[in-house]
Formats: sequence, structure tokens, C-alpha cells
Amino acid sequence: MILPIAQLGQPVLRRMASEVTPAEIASPEFQRLIDDMLETVTAAKGAGLAGPQVFQSKRLFVAGVLPAPEGRPQPLTVFINPRIVQHAEQRLFAWEGCLSFVELLVLVPRWASVRIEFLDRQGQPRTLDLEGWPARVVQHEYDHLDGVLTLDRTPSTRYIVKASEIKAANEELTRATERETT
Ligand code: NI
Repeated sequence: MILPIAQLGQPVLRRMASEVTPAEIASPEFQRLIDDMLETVTAAKGAGLAGPQVFQSKRLFVAGVLPAPEGRPQPLTVFINPRIVQHAEQRLFAWEGCLSFVELLVLVPRWASVRIEFLDRQGQPRTLDLEGWPARVVQHEYDHLDGVLTLDRTPSTRYIVKASEIKAANEELTRATERETT
């Protein structure tokens, strides 16, 4: 079932989500929630979707972070009670969208690589080492579990733009960067 996505302003997006217990993971209701979140993020063509975004204040998210097999869609990974246990020193900036406010893009710094520990949907412990875009996606989704949005992460409100105007914003940013470096 496709779930309604909480839009910016909904208090659930600002709450600290709760850890999920082993008994809850095993429950049919929770397994159905996972299936619904997978269906919802696929339908919305999102890179990831966190529990609070579907009005469930629980520490889980689904995200496409593994390479797609030849000619197949990218697989989605289920992260329950995730923890970012290591990260690179270097931070990189990129524009990020969010299914809770698709009208906007926000320029956000993220660690270049992360190690994330989590439980899979069977409740088994897993570890993934991610870099580049997948590392960015899990940091974005992880933030949702703490009630943190890209809007809080950007160093300047100037880096919040309408998605429709991204080309003009990027051109201006490139010009500004060139001015700084020459
Ligand atoms: Ni988001």
C-alpha cells in the first residue's frame, strides 16, 4: 500500500524517533510497514524514505545504496536502528531533495564516506561501508530519525532553492566559486 508522505510542517518530521525492539521487527505489522515503505519510495521515485516521513516515529529507513545489477532497478536496503559508527574527515557539498518538500533543493555538506551498522528486516546485524552518493543518502535518511532536515544542515539559507530554478542557482554558485578561487 502506498503511504501518505508527511510534508514539511508536520510535527512528526521534527520528533526524535524511537528504537525498534526485536519483537516489533518480527511482528506482521512492522513487516507490512517495511513493504509499504518500499512500495511508497519506489512510487515516489525517491532515493530513500524514513519512518517519520510516513508518520511512524520509529528508527528505520529504506534507501537505494547498493549498485543495480545489469539491466535491473536499484535494490532497496532496509535499515533498522542504524548507527553511523565511522566517517571520513572530508565533507562534500551537493544539492539534495526530500520527499517531504519536493519543491526545494538544498545544498548540504556530508561526510564523503561512512560506515553504518544496522539491523536488516530479519533483525540480523549488518554493516555497510558507503561512499559518494550512497553515503550521502544514508546521512540524509539518518537525520530524519533525529528530526533533522536538510534545511538545518545547509550553512546558508541562500543554498535553499526552488527545484525548478536549480540551473540558474548552479550557474551563480559556479561564478561565485570562480571569484573566490581566482
Ligand atoms: Ni528526506
